[in-house]
Amino acid sequence: MTISEGRINGRGDKYNKIVRLSVEKKVYIQTFGCQMNVHDSEQIITLLRESGYEETRRPSEADVILVNTCSIREKAVQKVYSQMGRFAKLKQQNPNLMIGVGGCLAQQFGRTMLQRAPFVDVIFGTHNNHLVPDFLEKVLADRHPVVEVAFRETVPSLSVVPILRKGAISSFVTIMQGCNNFCSFCIVPYVRGREQSRKPDDIINEIKTLAGRGIREVTLLGQNVNSYGGTLAEDCDFTKLLRSINLIDGIQRIRFTTSHPKDLSDDLIACFGSLDKLCEHIHLPVQSGADRILSRMNRQYTRKDYLNKITKLRSYCPRISITSDVIVGFPGETEQDFQDTLDLMNEVQFDGLFSFQYSEREGTTALSYDGKVENCQKRERLQILQSLQDEHTLKRNRDLIGQVVSVLPEGISRNSNKELKGRTRTNKIVNFSGESSLKGKELALRITDAYIHSLRGEVPVTN
Ligand code: SAH
Ligand code: SF4
Ligand code: F3S
Repeated sequence: MTISEGRINGRGDKYNKIVRLSVEKKVYIQTFGCQMNVHDSEQIITLLRESGYEETRRPSEADVILVNTCSIREKAVQKVYSQMGRFAKLKQQNPNLMIGVGGCLAQQFGRTMLQRAPFVDVIFGTHNNHLVPDFLEKVLADRHPVVEVAFRETVPSLSVVPILRKGAISSFVTIMQGCNNFCSFCIVPYVRGREQSRKPDDIINEIKTLAGRGIREVTLLGQNVNSYGGTLAEDCDFTKLLRSINLIDGIQRIRFTTSHPKDLSDDLIACFGSLDKLCEHIHLPVQSGADRILSRMNRQYTRKDYLNKITKLRSYCPRISITSDVIVGFPGETEQDFQDTLDLMNEVQFDGLFSFQYSEREGTTALSYDGKVENCQKRERLQILQSLQDEHTLKRNRDLIGQVVSVLPEGISRNSNKELKGRTRTNKIVNFSGESSLKGKELALRITDAYIHSLRGEVPVTN
């Protein structure tokens, strides 16, 4: 029997100090989707540990299985349901197993998910992660499914400081939730709700706590961090927040994701190269290189606006690495529009690109658009685009050969357990020979080789 205290850090509300009595149970969590979901899962696990649960890596030995879902594209949804099917089989063998589903798909379908997945005990929406321990207790008491997908004015779990994995040097910090942009293809505003910024003091205190626990690098998360502060009573925008974080002792590197090109201000661009801890990398999704498509997507910038921002970024910070997202086969995308996207890629030469076939999403405005593109055409365009990007990535990486760059070692390399893996400030993976004691200490490495997914480095010989 464990007595534990559920606590949401930094909050003085009713969720503080809920004393729970429970027999120690094992929880397994499977996460789909973006970094926001990864971070939400860490927070849910932290709350459950404070309620007496222990995390397990093996679903077969779990008392509770949680699935944190994504609904950004149909493929993501299929993955979720096929995994849930596997968990349903475990429940046939162990009827006491409780299965909970959270995240964006749970938010989208709520109770109707029970029709497709009647074995589920708890369905919780994206604003209700803080209640998961309570929901599980309720199911344990009466064995009736619990469904809660209400949107709230604030999302209480955002302020949970996650329990860090042993030796972690890097952590996510959610600075805002939701999105107000309603790009015509995107489900996120419907499943994450309206934009809400966390208070700057809460964010700063959280990062100070993380620094005290050994974290050296923070990645600030939000669907559109450039509009941070818009919903706050106090006067604080994203650049002001960055400047405050830059002053925190112990933090060596600051990253953020994602930026919306329409809100990327000159002030923020100027932070690259002037704030010493801000890493020289920006993820700036372009989605398409054709103005007609950008307008149908409701992105609120033109190809020219985007290219101007790239020029400015590179003039302030020549070393900056730029990555992006592109959708192919959006309704109405002609061969010429697709060529315009390839041209834009040739002009920008992104360091990396995430590319997707357009996937119809229920409730979004693009669902009713005409000019649907055939699946085979989408596939073909994606292949062409990806092989062009591979050329660009390789070229950008090879340009680094011979240069000495700063690398923060994160842990053992995938290639061999005698090697370490770290990241450049430009967010490229570098494998190199070194002692594990180097983890967490920034090093200057000479880049000796470059591939599409990683670089190779060595400690430079000094005379
Ligand atoms: N907030 C981020 C994006 C979050 S979604 C931003 O504004 O950039 C991540 C990426 O998924 C998007 O940039 C887009 O390229 C892709 N995406 C979103 N909806 C999609 C859909 N319906 N079909 C295909 N790709 C989609
Ligand atoms: Fe989706 Fe657009 Fe919001 Fe990004 S900015 S989450 S693409 S609606
Ligand atoms: Fe997916 Fe939700 Fe993230 S839809 S991409 S998990 S915000």
